[in-house]
Amino acid sequence: MSKNMKRIAVYTSGGDAPGMNAALRAVVRTSAYHEVEVFGITGGYEGMMNGNMQKLEPREVGNIIQRGGTFLKTARSMRFMKEEGRNQAADVLKKHNIDGLIALGGNGTFTGAEIFSKEHGIPVVGVPCTIDNDLYGTDYTIGFDTALNTAVEAVDKIRDTAESHDRLFFIEVMGRDSGYLALHTAIASGATLALLPEIDTTYEALAEVLKTSAERKKLFSLIIVAEGNKLGKTSEIAEELKSRVGAYDTRVAVIGHLQRGGSPSGADRLLASRLGSNAVEALINGHKNVMVGIDNNMIKYTPLGIAIRNQKEINMDEVRLAEILAL
Ligand code: F6P
Repeated sequence: MSKNMKRIAVYTSGGDAPGMNAALRAVVRTSAYHEVEVFGITGGYEGMMNGNMQKLEPREVGNIIQRGGTFLKTARSMRFMKEEGRNQAADVLKKHNIDGLIALGGNGTFTGAEIFSKEHGIPVVGVPCTIDNDLYGTDYTIGFDTALNTAVEAVDKIRDTAESHDRLFFIEVMGRDSGYLALHTAIASGATLALLPEIDTTYEALAEVLKTSAERKKLFSLIIVAEGNKLGKTSEIAEELKSRVGAYDTRVAVIGHLQRGGSPSGADRLLASRLGSNAVEALINGHKNVMVGIDNNMIKYTPLGIAIRNQKEINMDEVRLAEILAL
């Protein structure tokens, strides 16, 4: 165990994700197990610069494993993107004798953490918390499974009214520039099509699929639209395809921030507990500027820069599966 990891700080940053509280609980409890002091920073990088931090004891993270959101709050900070802001944060951490940081968040969080760590030499370990599942180096990010369940439940509800009215529904899901959430939602909800940022398509091709569906007497259809898809806004896509395929009345549903809330699934609680706990032990064992992830159910460390900059490929077998099962 590293002798010079006596006091660490943990924070949540960027878009919140179900399971962040479960991960925070694991960080605090594992720190106590190893007799390392842990401080919680409230409000992400803004809170770090303002010195909003307090010591956390194991009891203070009781009864939160089941709660969505993050009790440490989060924020997107423009100030931290400037060197002056990062210097201010470094002064705060130095004053509190912080030896290491644990960052819960996604791409943006890890980008700031990597720059900050290189400038000030404070070891950072990242825990991937985002519903987008867009971080390289981990099979899943914390929050993705819960968001998927939320999206599937919403699509199941839309299916009822789509079937009752013989309508074509365009259902937009989150995921920023990743199609993971849209693809898994499409397969799990039995949708006809998934429009993904990673897969180029045309209105002609889409119209062909829908015309074939109509010929096959498929009286209603569900199309899952990733918000980052290349064709455009979901409402525009619906209008364009309505004009090309006269067979259906169309409607649009945007699931939106529902996907960010709710009690984390069992899978996300387990993933959050494993990664949060391992992040503490990574710091104690001398690792720095890595993200802890899960690879074939094994813990894996990926340098932060690689986790951020490497593109996480969409699973083409799953794209093919979605097409086959939509027949
Ligand atoms: O990164 C998580 C995410 O939910 C994305 O899927 C989405 O595009 C974005 O955050 C929304 O950001 P905000 O909560 O700031 O509107």
